[in-house]
Amino acid sequence: MSSRRRGSPGTASTFGTMAEISLLIHDLEAAVSPQGGGPRRGRDLGELEIQAPASIAISGGRITSVGPPREVLRRVPSGTDYETFDGRGRVALPGLVDCHTHAAFLGSRAAEFEQRSRGASYEELHAAGGGILSTVSATRAGSEEDLRAAIEKHLGWMLEHGTTSAEVKSGYGLDLETELKSLRAVRDAAENHPVDAYPTFLGAHAVPPEFSGAADYVGFVISEVLPEAARLADAADVFLERGSFEVPEGRRYLQACASYGLALRLHADQFSERGAIPLGVELGARSVDHLENTGEEGARLLAGSDVVAVLLPACGLFLDLPLPPARFLVEEGAIVALATDFNPGSSFCESLPLVMNLGCTRLKLSPAEVLNACTANAAHVLGLDDVGRLAPGYRADVLVLDAPDWRYLAYHLGGDRFAARIKSGQVLA
Ligand code: NIG
Ligand code: FE
Repeated sequence: MSSRRRGSPGTASTFGTMAEISLLIHDLEAAVSPQGGGPRRGRDLGELEIQAPASIAISGGRITSVGPPREVLRRVPSGTDYETFDGRGRVALPGLVDCHTHAAFLGSRAAEFEQRSRGASYEELHAAGGGILSTVSATRAGSEEDLRAAIEKHLGWMLEHGTTSAEVKSGYGLDLETELKSLRAVRDAAENHPVDAYPTFLGAHAVPPEFSGAADYVGFVISEVLPEAARLADAADVFLERGSFEVPEGRRYLQACASYGLALRLHADQFSERGAIPLGVELGARSVDHLENTGEEGARLLAGSDVVAVLLPACGLFLDLPLPPARFLVEEGAIVALATDFNPGSSFCESLPLVMNLGCTRLKLSPAEVLNACTANAAHVLGLDDVGRLAPGYRADVLVLDAPDWRYLAYHLGGDRFAARIKSGQVLA
């Protein structure tokens, strides 16, 4: 697919700074990217930077220039050796960022899926000790090596669908050994895999059976697990929900996590609205995620803050939940991101293009809004300022879509087809 070229002496010195490059994606129908200036909100969520036609030059794993093919070529010094990738009839987009996944698990919930198909509810299964807790048993029983291999497999699935950076939560250990094992396994898996993975400590996912109540368990997490987990994780998360953790324990846990410098995230309003958004806003959380049962007041509070609303429409589909107030959040000016929520129980789905399709078809967001939500805004959730855009200086994480129109990524349901996925400048098979 790609071949080697030498820079042409005739065009080398006429435009801008010259830089050695390693890869040139040339003659694309278009290069499509979020605009600069941080996370996109309000009307800006629907805006993109579209350069058509375009080429992209890459060096040292970073983008060096994007723009009209002739101009990009003129920046290449003569005599430079570089790979080329033919972009004709294709479009380039930034690699996707999945900012909410639970990919660190072992075991399967296929039997539970069948029970749900016969009418059992997700919350009933959880209350009966199944659900999350059955994945906790399977994850505790495996070795760190098993878990690392499982995470690598899951990252591979994500990459097939164009994800080049992903958050991965712990939360299926809920004891010292397995939580630390999970966070280490995320870091090790990322080292062995092209997808960059960022670990989040979800110490407050469920109350494990050896504890009598949420307050007891949170006390244990704060004193025994958090000091070690904080060395391995970038962020902390809590499942604030009836039957799991309520606001008082959530606040205690998150405040302790913040004191270790972790960014804060909350599973909020998934089944019931019980104060997660006010708590997230009060604590300056990075995001509140789910929002399927968020009412107008909560949505307004969120829209007036810098806390990101992370919507997870594949989970909504998987569990047949109400729709989150996506349009309202956008119109009111919230920072909205989308993610898969990939996990074995409530969203066994690793495809962000599918999520983008659901964003358009069910949440009534536009193709431009869902692209910004899965790139620039998702990168912001993970605290990354050099991914999620096609612009000089950004990591060269580039999807070359084998389609003449960038909207195919959301439009072609289950048919995301890539001519290439490029991670840090490397063209992957
Ligand atoms: O985001 N609801 C809490 N946590 C996950 C589900 C985890 C599981 O069912 O294993 C979620 O939906
Ligand atoms: Fe989740």
